[in-house]
Amino acid sequence: MQLGKTVLIKSKEIYVLRLICLLKLVIKVAEELRIDPWGTSYIKDYNRLMREFGIKPITKELLEELPSVHRLLRRRVIFGHRDLERIIEAIKTDSEYVVMTGIKPSGPFHLGSKLTAEEFIYFLNLFPKAFGYYAIADLEAYADNKIPLEESYKIAIDNLADLLALGLDPKRVYVYRQSEEMRVLRLAFIFSRGVTYNTLEAIYGDKPFGLYFSALVQAGDILAPQLPENGGPKPTIVPVGADQDPHIRLTRDLAQRFHSDFGFILPAATYHLLLRDLTGQEKMSKRNPMGILYLCEDLKLAKKKVFNAFTGGRATAREQRELGGEPDKCVIFRELLTVHFVEDDRKLKELYQECRAGNILCGECKARAWEIISEWLRRHREKKEKTRDLAAQLLQEHTLT
Ligand code: TRP
Ligand code: SF4
Repeated sequence: MQLGKTVLIKSKEIYVLRLICLLKLVIKVAEELRIDPWGTSYIKDYNRLMREFGIKPITKELLEELPSVHRLLRRRVIFGHRDLERIIEAIKTDSEYVVMTGIKPSGPFHLGSKLTAEEFIYFLNLFPKAFGYYAIADLEAYADNKIPLEESYKIAIDNLADLLALGLDPKRVYVYRQSEEMRVLRLAFIFSRGVTYNTLEAIYGDKPFGLYFSALVQAGDILAPQLPENGGPKPTIVPVGADQDPHIRLTRDLAQRFHSDFGFILPAATYHLLLRDLTGQEKMSKRNPMGILYLCEDLKLAKKKVFNAFTGGRATAREQRELGGEPDKCVIFRELLTVHFVEDDRKLKELYQECRAGNILCGECKARAWEIISEWLRRHREKKEKTRDLAAQLLQEHTLT
């Protein structure tokens, strides 16, 4: 009898232990997959990300449907999307759509900010009936980085000048600061009725309430263009980095939940890869000053950063001539030339092959890259000189008095 009882207890204990192990595993998988938009800038496995969260890959067939294809799409730097078909459909049926994105004004424009800006401009210029909304996320900059609103206002003007210099047509966009935009804030408040702490915790983990609130404000940013005051429901495309997907998921969920009140159409999104910094670090950090290239920084310093960048070069010149370099690992080739500075596919392919064949060494290659990059930076700076006043004016117009 006695023996039988212990065995029984033991098997019960084992059962509980197993259950705990299983639970731990489930939690671990969930945490591993969780993207933190205020922390993560590294994603290990994009395929897994797409599978788990239902992001679709950018396919050749899809690209064939677009009137023009941006290099970021061609090169799959923009690797995935949700509902991009809705935008293609709008173009086919000659109807309007909205391009919506935002930026946290926490510092001057760098290569990362340039990506989203270019995507925004591309989707806007793709079709004459598209209209842009651009959010300056000053509330998020306060919640996340404690940047006072007066300070982020100055940064925002500078950011906007970059955006205009990159080719944004000021007549086709509404630029606003979150802290000044009543329609967005009201919507965020309305959405707060539809979310519980548990939902937010499941998406973002345990965070200060300011960050949860800025997530709701971002949902407000994305859906406000569909309010009756802004012309009612319409397809919307949100180009962002992959780290922003939690916000997109939350927003799409809210769009569904509040569909009966507002008739929202689920917003579409495109996602770009999170890129390495110049030194090859996966996690971009302001604490690594040699890692980030600002669009308007001193050319001498920019040159130093480019020449210091991580390459796919071999240990010795001889080895490199024999084996060739590794352009797929190289920041100069990938992050700088492929992602940002070489438009021409043929030229890019030539550079690739030259490196692989060992016909060029990194020193010479960097010097060549610097020529292209410095030319771009110089031109950008010139253009920006002329857009500063307009940038200040645009933001001032949209300030509540
Ligand atoms: N959270 C975004 C960032 O950190 C900025 C942002 C605010 C945004 N509102 C948005 C992005 C709306 C896309 C759409 O960069
Ligand atoms: Fe990179 Fe150029 Fe060196 Fe090749 S030769 S590894 S592309 S820097």
